[in-house]
Amino acid sequence: MAMFYMPVKVFEEKNAIQNHAKDIAALGTKALIVTGRHSAFANGSYDDLTATLDSEGIAHVVFNEVEENPSVKTIMKARDFGVAEHVDFVIGIGGGSPLDASKAIALMIKKADKDVDYLYKPDGDSVTLPIVAIPTTCGTGSEVTAVSVLTDTDKMVKKSIPHKIFADLALLDGKYLTGAPRKVLCNTAFDALTHLIESYLNSKATDYSRMCVDAGLKTWAKSLPVIRGEREADETDLLNMLRASMMAGMAIAHTATTIPHGLSYAVTTHLGVPHGMATAYFTAGYLTAAPESDRKYLLETAGFASVSDFRKTYHASCGEIQADETRLREVLDVAVAELAGNPAKMALAPFAVDAETVRRIAYFELEN
Ligand SMILES: [Fe+2]
Repeated sequence: MAMFYMPVKVFEEKNAIQNHAKDIAALGTKALIVTGRHSAFANGSYDDLTATLDSEGIAHVVFNEVEENPSVKTIMKARDFGVAEHVDFVIGIGGGSPLDASKAIALMIKKADKDVDYLYKPDGDSVTLPIVAIPTTCGTGSEVTAVSVLTDTDKMVKKSIPHKIFADLALLDGKYLTGAPRKVLCNTAFDALTHLIESYLNSKATDYSRMCVDAGLKTWAKSLPVIRGEREADETDLLNMLRASMMAGMAIAHTATTIPHGLSYAVTTHLGVPHGMATAYFTAGYLTAAPESDRKYLLETAGFASVSDFRKTYHASCGEIQADETRLREVLDVAVAELAGNPAKMALAPFAVDAETVRRIAYFELEN
């Protein structure tokens, strides 16, 4: 059985926000804009959005306290704010953190009578306020996935909440990536690439999800010279990177991510490694454990000559994890233990994975 389900209305074009004012306005009368502290204000997306809302007579308030790796506490603070302001839809702008947060906030405002435990204990319907997603980085594809990854800072655990929450509308405009620091572009582009690889090397992959992977890899490859530092990103590159990220999101919306993502969360939580850099850290090991024909297809379609070319490009563009080897080994052991406690994630690998295979993948970069 194969199923393809993509309920998000996606528009990709220059001035997407302004051109789809009516689509935004159709979703409510007062918006809660959810974003981080800086980027949406610097890249023009916040100003474009508020001017568009004003032109449509839609009231709006902003919650701009979403941190990298949004915490459950932040979600509940935004929920209280949104409830007090009587908002009736949510607009997330930014990278994966604000977009993931906007889904959880839209859920908790709709379920204003529920306490924080509801985030991790769905009751079956997961109904939310309407959501608009405006991505301004090229990594998570959160605008087209049902995933919201949150961090419980008390337990120091980062993981997806079990609710499946899609945005109603996604607006993609490459111009908001202009001026993004090269590090951010590289880290997020590697996140998108790992989504494509993990969706392909996945026991839930179908011809439909692989259709998204194939298109995503070919689109991603067009901007590889930018990742390699061979030239600056132009407008077409930025749009391609955003598009590849969205296609990767469509792919993982059908398969979920698997071992590299499962291992990455501890590295991010305990060492502060950016998400894309953390997932790509485990990708060479995952590719090496995969059948050769799959590894060859994935690397070549993305533009890499070999696993070592992939590694060289990754290290040159994302940098090295800043931790001494003893600390890194401690955290890798935590990552392996966390993944071992998540058999559903391990079962998504399409080949046999035992504890030793997981250890080899986790330690691949350190020991090769
Ligand atoms: Fe990711």
